[in-house]
Amino acid sequence: MTLTIDRLDCRLGNRRILHGLSGLRARAGEITALIGPNGAGKSTLLKAVAGIEKASGDIVLENRAIGTLSIEQRAGRLYYLPQEIGSRAALNVFEAVLLARRTQVAESPAEAMDAVDQALCSLELDSLAERELAVLSGGQRQRVAIAQAIVRQPRLLMLDEPTSALDLHHQLQVLDYLQRLARRKQLVVVIAIHDLNLAARFADHIWILQSGEHIASGAPGEVLTTERLRQVYAITAHVEWPVDEPPRVTPLAAIRQLGSNNGIA
Ligand SMILES: Nc1ncnc2c1ncn2[C@@H]1O[C@H](COP(=O)(O)OP(=O)(O)OP(=O)(O)O)[C@@H](O)[C@H]1O
Ligand SMILES: [Mg+2]
Repeated sequence: MTLTIDRLDCRLGNRRILHGLSGLRARAGEITALIGPNGAGKSTLLKAVAGIEKASGDIVLENRAIGTLSIEQRAGRLYYLPQEIGSRAALNVFEAVLLARRTQVAESPAEAMDAVDQALCSLELDSLAERELAVLSGGQRQRVAIAQAIVRQPRLLMLDEPTSALDLHHQLQVLDYLQRLARRKQLVVVIAIHDLNLAARFADHIWILQSGEHIASGAPGEVLTTERLRQVYAITAHVEWPVDEPPRVTPLAAIRQLGSNNGIA
């Protein structure tokens, strides 16, 4: 186990958002998917781990309590890619990714440029290297942000809905790449994601949050059940695990308003 979270509480304003989350475990070399409805607390959890939101409890990364790390040590070990990414920087794609690299990794300029070249190729961004950030499409911008995250070489990489703007090719391509990267470099990768087909296919481990509580965690095949999806998302769904094809989660219908009865008989 490389990242462990216990008794995590977070208040924002006068609301308690995370209610003593315990038993969350993520291993190096694996993809951990963080799922749950809108407002469940996924982003808040990732921000609490990143130190962006103040929280109480135990967050331990590689046997070190994260709270005991200096800001520089934290920046060297973990990176959080937010759900909303905006950049007004007047840089092209190559420069933006190079800048991200140079803020974290000590090496020669030539080595940094090689690393950026590699990252751009891996994310199929090489043909956009000279393009200004300001003119990129939403999905292109999202892939550049992922490139900026990986070139920093964090031990713990937290990505908040990194495929939300991507076309089908790039959803598969990016997650396949992140899976291989996690395995090769033994990174802890935690990805908040709404697409349960992608979570079922690429995650080794899943955390489910609902209303700021840890509802379940485990292997996709254990936790993604029809009954659990009904409880957590208020949907009926088919969940299939074919032997020679990727898993399939097919949402069929919303069965009531989440968190309350919407009054329709
Ligand atoms: N700064 C804040 N002040 C008060 N409440 C907040 C603040 N930020 C978030 N919240 C509330 O905390 C709850 C959890 O929000 P969070 O963004 O963590 O949800 P999420 O699971 O990431 O949802 P989504 O799937 O929509 O991204 C929501 O009810 C939200 O309204
Ligand atoms: Mg969120």
